[in-house]
Amino acid sequence: MLTRVILIFLLFVLITLAFAQNRETVKGCIAGNVTMQFKPALLAGREVKTYVWNKVRGIFKDPSFAKFEPSVSSQLEIYYNEEHQVQNRLIHYPEEPATLYLTDLRKSDQEQYLLVVSYVDYVGTPPEWIIDLDVQDVCFEKPKDVGKCAVSTCYTGENGVLKTPDDREETVNGLKVINVCEKRTTGTYYCCNSKGNCIVQ
Ligand SMILES: *[C@@H]1O[C@H](CO)[C@@H](O)[C@H](O)[C@H]1NC(C)=O
Repeated sequence: MLTRVILIFLLFVLITLAFAQNRETVKGCIAGNVTMQFKPALLAGREVKTYVWNKVRGIFKDPSFAKFEPSVSSQLEIYYNEEHQVQNRLIHYPEEPATLYLTDLRKSDQEQYLLVVSYVDYVGTPPEWIIDLDVQDVCFEKPKDVGKCAVSTCYTGENGVLKTPDDREETVNGLKVINVCEKRTTGTYYCCNSKGNCIVQ
């Protein structure tokens, strides 16, 4: 009886681990960039036929997002382009087949992405990798020292506002890099998006 309980418990732990291992959350800032590196454990010596990405579009909707088929084309094929609005924002290199670079992030990119890899001649469960992309709608990077200056970036998306220590308000369209090099520019900065959500630094 006890052995059975232990066995069931171990099975439960294993299943949980198995699910935890093929999934990660990737965080990005609006108007910023993100690398979505899918990390399925690929079988050595097996040729991959297709890399297929799905993106949840709602129930009863085809989740197809993108496909890369090395034997057919070196180009990533994107589905529902109009809806996903990723033209010129989605970058894929054939030499990094399982990685997507998404630039100029939008809130609508926040979704669950699933990559399925299938081999040329392999019957079995194809490896999968899930990325939950989280797009924050206002971000203020921690300042980095560059020479004598402290440099940070305020990400707000469109119609954001940056309030400087001397009480000026600057419009932010997407993102703004801030260089703090002199004493008169040190102090509190407010990085605010169009909805009025601010981050103070
Ligand atoms: C995002 O990537 C694009 C294209 O590679 C680049 O031009 C841009 O400077 C990057 N933006 C940030 C905030 O790093």
